[in-house]
Amino acid sequence: MLWSSIASFAALTAVVNGQYDGETSPPSYPSPWMRGGNGWADAYQKAQAFVSQLTLLEKVNLTTGVGWEEGPCVGNTGSIPRLNFPGLCLQDSPLGVRDTDLNSAFPAGVNAAATWSTRLMKSRGNAMGSEHRDKGVDVQLGPVAGPLGRSPEGGRNWEGFSPDPVLTGVAIGQTIQGIQDAGVIACAKHFIMNEQEHVRSATPPEYEFSYSSNLDDKTMHELYLWPFADAVRAGAGAIMCSYNQVNNSYASQNSWTLNYLLKNELDFQGFVTSDWWAQLTGVASALAGLDMTMAGDQGLNSGDTYWGSNLTAAVLNGTIPQWRLDDMVVRIMSAYYKVGRDKTSVPVNFNSWTLETDGYRFPESNEDFTQVNWHVNVQDDHAALIREIGGASTVLLKNVNKALPLNKPKSIAVIGEDAHDNPGGPNACGDRGCDIGTLAMGWGSGTANFPYLISPNTALKAQAADDKSQYVNVSNNYDFDAVTKAVTGAEVAIVFANADSGEGYLTIDGNEGDRNNLTLWQNGDALIAHVASINPNTIVVLHTVGAVIVEAIKNHPNITAILWAGLPGQESGNAITDVLYGKVNPQAKTPFTWGKAREDWGTDVMYTFPSDPPQLNFVEGVFIDYRHFDAAGIEPSYEFGFGLSYTTFSYSNLKITKNNPGPYEPTTGMTSPAPTFGTIDYNPAHAEFPPGFSAVPRYVYPYISGPIPTNLPQNWPAHSQDGSPQPKLAAGGSGGGNRQLYDTMYTVSATVTNTGNVKGTEIAQLYISLGGPTDPKIQLRGFDDLILDPGESETFTYEITRRDISNWDTVSQNWVVSAYPKTVYVGGSSRDLPLSGALG
Ligand SMILES: *[C@@H]1O[C@H](CO)[C@@H](O)[C@H](O)[C@H]1NC(C)=O
Ligand SMILES: *[C@@H]1O[C@H](CO)[C@@H](O)[C@H](O)[C@H]1NC(C)=O
Ligand SMILES: *[C@@H]1O[C@H](CO)[C@@H](O)[C@H](O)[C@H]1NC(C)=O
Ligand SMILES: *[C@@H]1O[C@H](CO)[C@@H](O)[C@H](O)[C@H]1NC(C)=O
Ligand SMILES: *[C@@H]1O[C@H](CO)[C@@H](O)[C@H](O)[C@H]1NC(C)=O
Ligand SMILES: *[C@@H]1O[C@H](CO)[C@@H](O)[C@H](O)[C@H]1NC(C)=O
Ligand SMILES: *[C@@H]1O[C@H](CO)[C@@H](O)[C@H](O)[C@H]1NC(C)=O
Repeated sequence: MLWSSIASFAALTAVVNGQYDGETSPPSYPSPWMRGGNGWADAYQKAQAFVSQLTLLEKVNLTTGVGWEEGPCVGNTGSIPRLNFPGLCLQDSPLGVRDTDLNSAFPAGVNAAATWSTRLMKSRGNAMGSEHRDKGVDVQLGPVAGPLGRSPEGGRNWEGFSPDPVLTGVAIGQTIQGIQDAGVIACAKHFIMNEQEHVRSATPPEYEFSYSSNLDDKTMHELYLWPFADAVRAGAGAIMCSYNQVNNSYASQNSWTLNYLLKNELDFQGFVTSDWWAQLTGVASALAGLDMTMAGDQGLNSGDTYWGSNLTAAVLNGTIPQWRLDDMVVRIMSAYYKVGRDKTSVPVNFNSWTLETDGYRFPESNEDFTQVNWHVNVQDDHAALIREIGGASTVLLKNVNKALPLNKPKSIAVIGEDAHDNPGGPNACGDRGCDIGTLAMGWGSGTANFPYLISPNTALKAQAADDKSQYVNVSNNYDFDAVTKAVTGAEVAIVFANADSGEGYLTIDGNEGDRNNLTLWQNGDALIAHVASINPNTIVVLHTVGAVIVEAIKNHPNITAILWAGLPGQESGNAITDVLYGKVNPQAKTPFTWGKAREDWGTDVMYTFPSDPPQLNFVEGVFIDYRHFDAAGIEPSYEFGFGLSYTTFSYSNLKITKNNPGPYEPTTGMTSPAPTFGTIDYNPAHAEFPPGFSAVPRYVYPYISGPIPTNLPQNWPAHSQDGSPQPKLAAGGSGGGNRQLYDTMYTVSATVTNTGNVKGTEIAQLYISLGGPTDPKIQLRGFDDLILDPGESETFTYEITRRDISNWDTVSQNWVVSAYPKTVYVGGSSRDLPLSGALG
């Protein structure tokens, strides 16, 4: 029967309790109920009014996806026909609307980070949000702060921003504001510790469990949770939990990460959705803080569900208290009202499963053939923004002999498959699952279809025609005879190469999501070496998902310039042409470190595990990326925050002003008791399928059929069903944590001057040393983009917050400012910091 699930609940409860090797996650119950503070008050009020009129079945409908491919979007909740409420549409991705047409393909998150421009981050979010809105999407499944980027090999790092938590925190906050200003709910993901693709999900019989990310509390707070605090502070309406375990408890039912960290300490007021099929239990996940399940079915097209009818039954038999169900639904509807969905919503006008005009409304069940696509063009003028971000995110790593910018060269040779079009078109491979032609996004669910893709070859050829430069191009990376002929005697040879990665459900050239190595793909290193052995003015352009080993390229005397263009989206060729020809002066700074060898990072993907459940131990603590290079005294090829311009800048006049915001006060007191909204009809007969209801096969419904289980043995965690007032956490009380963490402690300013001959943008960076023996040498805390004419000076200002100078204290479970002397540094990269001063 339906209710034979107690064995699996018991097994998973055992996991929650951590009866396996490795660390365990402490229990934290009950799940904090929404209270509507911090900019949520209006939305909460509207949501209460809406939810109060719902029946049990209608409430359950909003928490549960209808099953894979049973609606137009990648995720669809049930609807409320009685109130003409169509249900919610959740759609990928973090870089544009996935699986449709006439949408834009934006630069990836890593490129947004490389701009270091809050204006561009927010504009990008807003443009993506408006495209989702105009397609009828309620929830955009992005942006990404997990993976943060522990290891450069991590397959999905590029979907997020940077391994630095502050750069990622600013980027995710700006992106969320941009998306939600457009009237769409942003869904920050993946919460949390989803730092690699290998074994993120169980792959029986090899691994019966997902890997467990095991880490200490300090590293959690000071590194991985940090950007999620910014996401919550920015008002994110939704957060998606991840596939992996944390301390041997699944992220979809880990009461410590969801109840304690996210909903209590960070005071998250929106809803938590599972990643697709990441939910593994019904009651346990509900009590641990999950609010929505996606795709709704237990497995891909399995037709059964942990929630839906099972949630209805669990409420009816009293296992899940009404307040917990009501809290799920009021959180979902508050997010809806917070971003104004009641005013901005349009009917869904696309279908994720076909680009044809007609198709099935329920594709998985092959039912109801009708019009499913209206081909709405949502691109607006976003191409201009995409081109601007493409240019502003291109990092100039090397430029000698005034190689760049180009100025009407007599002849130019453009070499490499990565400069050229994919002969099958830019969308030839589903979910971009191949590395053919120029690389402008990675692969997986974090993608969108290209409306078009301007390749570098197309744009550079057009530029050459304007300039009357002789132009020759070679796309074959292995035809060295043709390459030799093309580059010999050319005034400039530009070689393009790439390195790709993506989500683990696709394996490309043996790479199961995560990269197998940090070298270039498609013979790229040999191709570059060959061109440089012939042409003394070789320029290298890299389209890579992250760091690759460039030490040989950096040191080659014939290589006069190196540019990293990342994953620039549809305007790739135009953007790189703008930079190469000086129409755009590069401003980007690398959002990650470029090591000389793979070992230099001190962290790596674990490709196989000796045990099951697989243990992924974050033994390096907070020392990832530049923190590790600094601590270990390893010289990188290019340090975090590095990037050249066609002009030069100087820094002077550091000023530090101490503010006095008063002492830090822990949040105290008790919450109010858990509220309920409306009354529940506990008669099981009223929860059955309505007479004559014609159910779509394998569709997930809230209805029960037959008797509900009432006297199974119960072993739910202590306090998990308790709706009485609860103590507030010292570090909590406000979106993103204790309000006073964001008090200004010091105001720091410095003068930045353009000392060159052309206009340029400098990204001024501020780092702090917290001074303790276990602290990183320096940590980024603030930055700003300053646009300066030749000779012009401007003041860079940053307000250092209490959080910026605090450490997480595991005993008091709060942030503390240590007694160690603290120093502030200002300059143009993490290793070029001409100004410094004590924070007295
Ligand atoms: C994981 O376990 C460590 C060691 O017991 C503990 O410090 C940390 O708080 C735990 N974190 C989570 C998320 O459970
Ligand atoms: C739940 O949602 C489904 C469609 O998604 C709908 O057919 C059904 O009528 C809804 N049930 C209720 C009680 O609103
Ligand atoms: C309820 O959950 C149990 C245990 O996972 C499952 O066997 C059953 O099919 C579910 N019921 C429905 C209607 O999906
Ligand atoms: C040069 O580019 C064109 C497209 O503009 C392409 O058709 C041609 O194959 C390329 N030439 C070589 C030798 O790869
Ligand atoms: C690194 O991986 C890429 C992609 O699979 C492959 O093309 C390349 O040959 C590999 N490099 C080395 C040194 O094995
Ligand atoms: C640089 O290019 C010249 C040809 O201009 C070639 O003779 C020389 O060997 C190249 N240098 C290297 C290190 O490959
Ligand atoms: C109530 O139903 C849920 C879902 O089927 C089940 O997990 C739980 O054990 C039941 N409670 C009782 C007391 O039988």
